[in-house]
Amino acid sequence: MCGIVGYVGRKENALHVLIEGLKTLEYRGYDSAGVAYLDKNNINIIKEKGKIVNLENKLNLDTKSSLGIGHTRWATHGEPNEINSHPHKVGKITIVHNGIIENYEELKNILKQSGYTFKSETDTEIACALIDKLYSEKNDIIKVLDKCADLLRGSYALGILIDDDLNTLYAIRKDSPLIVALGDNENYIASDVPAILKYTNKYILLENNEVAKLTNNNVTVFKNGKIINKDINTFEWNVEAAMKNGYDHFMLKEIHEQPKVIYDTVSTFFNNGIDSLIEKMPDFKKYNKIHIVACGSAYHTGLTGKSLIERYADIPVDVEIASEYRYKKLFLDEKSLVIIISQSGETADSIAALRIANDNNIDTLAIVNVVGSSIAREAKYVLYTKAGCEIAVATTKAYSAQVAMLALIAFNIAYTKGFISNSNEFMNELNNLVNKMNHLLDNIDEYLEVAKEIYQVEHVFFLGRGIDYSLAMEGSLKLKEISYIHSEAYAAGELKHGTISLIEKDTPVIAIVTDEKIAEKTISNIKEVKARGAKVILITTEKLNKVGDYYDYKLVVPNTYILVQSLLTILPLQIIAYEVAKLRGCDIDKPRNLAKSVTVE
Ligand code: G6P
Repeated sequence: MCGIVGYVGRKENALHVLIEGLKTLEYRGYDSAGVAYLDKNNINIIKEKGKIVNLENKLNLDTKSSLGIGHTRWATHGEPNEINSHPHKVGKITIVHNGIIENYEELKNILKQSGYTFKSETDTEIACALIDKLYSEKNDIIKVLDKCADLLRGSYALGILIDDDLNTLYAIRKDSPLIVALGDNENYIASDVPAILKYTNKYILLENNEVAKLTNNNVTVFKNGKIINKDINTFEWNVEAAMKNGYDHFMLKEIHEQPKVIYDTVSTFFNNGIDSLIEKMPDFKKYNKIHIVACGSAYHTGLTGKSLIERYADIPVDVEIASEYRYKKLFLDEKSLVIIISQSGETADSIAALRIANDNNIDTLAIVNVVGSSIAREAKYVLYTKAGCEIAVATTKAYSAQVAMLALIAFNIAYTKGFISNSNEFMNELNNLVNKMNHLLDNIDEYLEVAKEIYQVEHVFFLGRGIDYSLAMEGSLKLKEISYIHSEAYAAGELKHGTISLIEKDTPVIAIVTDEKIAEKTISNIKEVKARGAKVILITTEKLNKVGDYYDYKLVVPNTYILVQSLLTILPLQIIAYEVAKLRGCDIDKPRNLAKSVTVE
């Protein structure tokens, strides 16, 4: 969702920094792009609909410029066209914006009465006019930006230029991500780390309503008009992490990084055996109910976590979609724990759900990948997944890291309650798991065969029961989001209550059977679709592998410790989705209409 980059510096390569930075933020999703830069004492604005390359074609990248802001826009108010693209300029103020100004209609009417007229349909132009109006009255930009906190409702990260001060870049944020990065005689703002990683790994996290003032050799942060001290942080992720490293797509690279990611996520908890796992996690003993709240794939990991925690740790778990959770009646008390799962830590609906739990004094635990993100900062407890920088919009490695973390939580609770007495088996198998994942990823010929078989179809169904149903949902989401093939995941026993009417000759059905306890039941459901002509692709484990006439293709994954079995089962689903999308010539890393980090409601 919208990306922001800003530059002020002596090297005068603003245009390069902006364009390169925007390109690294492409994964966030966008439909137009624009820049505003200092060109011989004037702010020049160039913008264009579509891909960044369209914008690039309109620019002379050799132009020397010491100041600029750039933006990729994911349309919310007004269609994606040149006029609605950012930056917007009103009077002396030029801005780029990520977020939504909720009271823009109200503000627009007030500003119209003051004589302002508007060219675009955006909420951003209104915010820009408001800043211009206040600035013309007060002539003190810090005070004006401070005042924004009272006047602008909604979420915003703003990069701001002022005609009166062409050596300075200003920024402010509320509930939309923005970092201030510190270079050598140059400083930057950005929506996310990869945009500036090429130049520096030092950064400051802006809190809500803090105002940043950046010149080439100084960064000052203000709160309520007063200068405040801020910690300087160092990014752990390096430039290579944000590159494709020879893979055709980031998604494929990230799929292959999963064994390492699982090792990194899990190993930090076992540096001193099982004791360190218990020490490093919250004490779960006091909770008798858990709510897991998340969006998209993170919601699916929540469903997997529910199966594990209910079955092995004996605590009831409700899993909720964050955008629903924030408006529903909650039945929580002091013995409840709300777990928010989020790769980015900036998903607007998940942040809102977290705040509701915090406001009700319910303990909250965040499972988050991005260190220092809003969710990580606001939750009572935080457990970091170690997936590193995930670029492909369709998540793979962050998803797996979340599943691994939930398996650790289930194990922790089960162990401390005495349901599992031997920790060695789990810890030993975690080492083997990494090898098994690598082995599967090195032997994908059968997955390619399946992809070739299904890439031209219009519909695919996924089936599974229990934990396999949660994997079916994720497999289905992966396929549809990147290949644009319609697919649906069904609880295997539910299909016959309606959807089985859609099964006809050669309809592909990907059926997952890894749970020994209910394998026979699922196999009966598979036979029901097979009898109606379905082309069945069975994904099962070595232990459950048997010959039968109810499948057309069989993909067998090794067994592992039951709590982490899903980390192997998900691999064929991810690879098949990827290969199908590739055969269809799709834009795999940046599927249409989607954004990686959804920072609006
Ligand atoms: C978007 C992405 C999904 C992601 C979801 C939640 O919809 O396209 O891949 O699962 O947001 O994101 P989060 O950062 O909170 O995990």
